[in-house]
Amino acid sequence: MGQEQASKDKSVFIRTYGCQMNVYDSERMIDLLKPLGYGAATSPEDADLVILNTCHIREKAAEKVYSELGRLKKIKTAKAKHGEAFSIAVAGCVAQAEGAEISARAPQVDMVVGPQAYHRLPELIARAARQRGDVLETDFAVEEKFDRLVARNADGPTAFLTIQEGCDKFCTFCVVPYTRGSEVSRPVDDITAEARALIAQGVKEITLLGQNVNAWRAPPPAGDRGETVWGLGELCRHLARIDGLERIRFTTSHPRDMDDGLIATLGEEEKLMPYLHLPVQAGADKILKAMNRGHTADEYLRLIERVRAARPDIALSGDFIVGFPGETNEDFEATLALVEAVGYASAFSFKYSRRPGTPGAAMRGQVADAEKDERLARLQALLEAQKNAFNRAQTGKVLPVLLEKPGRHAGQLVGRSPYLQSVHIRAPQSMLGSIAPARITGITPNALAGALTTEGEAAA
Ligand code: 5AD
Ligand code: SF4
Repeated sequence: MGQEQASKDKSVFIRTYGCQMNVYDSERMIDLLKPLGYGAATSPEDADLVILNTCHIREKAAEKVYSELGRLKKIKTAKAKHGEAFSIAVAGCVAQAEGAEISARAPQVDMVVGPQAYHRLPELIARAARQRGDVLETDFAVEEKFDRLVARNADGPTAFLTIQEGCDKFCTFCVVPYTRGSEVSRPVDDITAEARALIAQGVKEITLLGQNVNAWRAPPPAGDRGETVWGLGELCRHLARIDGLERIRFTTSHPRDMDDGLIATLGEEEKLMPYLHLPVQAGADKILKAMNRGHTADEYLRLIERVRAARPDIALSGDFIVGFPGETNEDFEATLALVEAVGYASAFSFKYSRRPGTPGAAMRGQVADAEKDERLARLQALLEAQKNAFNRAQTGKVLPVLLEKPGRHAGQLVGRSPYLQSVHIRAPQSMLGSIAPARITGITPNALAGALTTEGEAAA
């Protein structure tokens, strides 16, 4: 061994904000940096490079990034006193939306890299080191991003797989069409290869990701004599044929892209889990129109009926915004009525956040914050009650649970039911990664308690 090889290994710490696609992107950044000698650091203090993979969806999410940059600045200054290098990169949607402004507001930042450009991180790191100035990379080249990804490392029995990026819907409150660009679908062969690589590493459940995942469209693989264009339904059937893959999920779907083929697949393909995240945002037609959602409340309810007819046990989840400009009390009551009519198993709800550059920000009739608080509290109370009712209804049933990780207590594992509920079970470590039948014995605020059935015990 020559002395020149004795250089210290480098380490990277990535803090991820926002959606599951950011989680996926962060994992891929780690994979990308590994060949450059970067290991994963457990804290920013222990790292040579810190990447903030950011979210711009609401004002609070974006502001968190600047306060974290303040903390990182102190670490950078302290390290500089000891002659230690410390680089800071801002990735993701704040990088895309605010670009050069970040370096102006936070000069301690060395690199700014948008969500479609992170495959260029190795080059950016080298450039930043050479020029000691900040480097900005926010091109939109989604295809190139996927082409340039390196082999994947799975971490546990579940994994995300991005199949679609971007959004052409332009809801008037939302920054995604501006930060993530227009809708792009990955080719079938790419997706299949990534799925196979994950399954070879022991993955049992894949969640297909996309900002508008059900807008995914692509030609079938060469040699297929069926449809000329595949939608998400065909893709799920295709992936379901891979041996070793036990469960498929997808998120996030838009009501406008929920076609008959996908609904039929939900009814017929057992590996597709009975859980659908289908945001509606609001219940009054006037607000849906102002939001540019492209459907009425009644059309959404009829869509839910069709989905339930195909898969009666499906669990529904949604996103809601209260206090969109122009929302009256009566409009908000329509949201509550829609929630009552649907019955959600889980949901995310937010106060409207005025995002610069979106049409909503300029609309008249902005709603006072106190009013938003009150509406959010009422909506969340209803959604919480629905979630609890859904969870309680599982008591006594036997559900297949994919055991994902050790629980907080010794001898306990945590897994997921088909309906995405966390289930805590007493089970040996050796069962990690398997799907075991468990009887649901009780509920806690955010999880179910279960016990292995004799069949599950036999598997141990
Ligand atoms: N204000 C509040 N919530 C928002 N969302 C998107 N943009 C905004 C905004 N400006 C919510 C929507 C979306 C989820 C990911 O975030 O409900 O479905
Ligand atoms: Fe945003 Fe609407 Fe696109 Fe969803 S569909 S990402 S809410 S613009």
